[in-house]
Amino acid sequence: MPVQSSLTLADTGPVPSWDTPSGPSLARPIHFSGYERKSRDFYATPAPVTQALLRHIRFRCPVWEPCCGDGAMSSVLAGNGYDVVSTDLVDRGFGTSGVDFLACQSVPDGCRSIVTNPPYGDTGSQAGQSRSSLAMIGFLRHALALTESVQGQLALLVRLQWIAGKRVADVMSAAPFSAVVVLTNRIRWFDKGEHTNGAQHHHAWVVFDHAHPPGQPPALLYG
Ligand SMILES: C[S@@+](CC[C@H](N)C(=O)[O-])C[C@H]1O[C@@H](n2cnc3c(N)ncnc32)[C@H](O)[C@@H]1O
Repeated sequence: MPVQSSLTLADTGPVPSWDTPSGPSLARPIHFSGYERKSRDFYATPAPVTQALLRHIRFRCPVWEPCCGDGAMSSVLAGNGYDVVSTDLVDRGFGTSGVDFLACQSVPDGCRSIVTNPPYGDTGSQAGQSRSSLAMIGFLRHALALTESVQGQLALLVRLQWIAGKRVADVMSAAPFSAVVVLTNRIRWFDKGEHTNGAQHHHAWVVFDHAHPPGQPPALLYG
């Protein structure tokens, strides 16, 4: 039986949510800590999440999806007319596998933007969350360095709460932070029958643009 973590569930009433398309196989533990983490943090992103980003932001092409998983995000990008380069560390039957994003020293030839839902996003325990937050900062720093070299853009899907961390704030404030797209629908990552995740957390897209005028604050947008 899964063990409930010490996180408190707010009584939010019925909350609109976006369901993950593939059901239980995409289980993402959030407030039940007894579930095993998916291998290398694989959780496919429901299409409306990417569509919400693309309604607001136009990316310079080609776009690199460096943690493409089964192509959930890449497919939406391609469907919106983007030329997409898709890679992942693990072979999930989509794109080019065996590419460790954190070891990459440059973007693939010609790419001008990075768009992804990185690993480390959610965990089932408090301790795991703090490790996740630091790992995500490392991921952000690396992605900023890679996109800077091509004066490019970067969009990462993160928990809204993550933005409020002190270390994160320091990194984001020093970066060309151009927009945040707050998702008003919560993402429902998995279906576990009676233990179905009630879509507890809000997520947001944080968007960076190395062509963003220095000193101009980021736009607050809702998706
Ligand atoms: C949360 S899933 C997101 C999948 C896809 N971006 C989506 O939104 O549907 C994260 C993905 O990152 C991949 N991954 C983990 N570590 C990686 C690394 N160091 N380099 C590249 N991909 C990595 C995992 O294999 C997994 O497919």
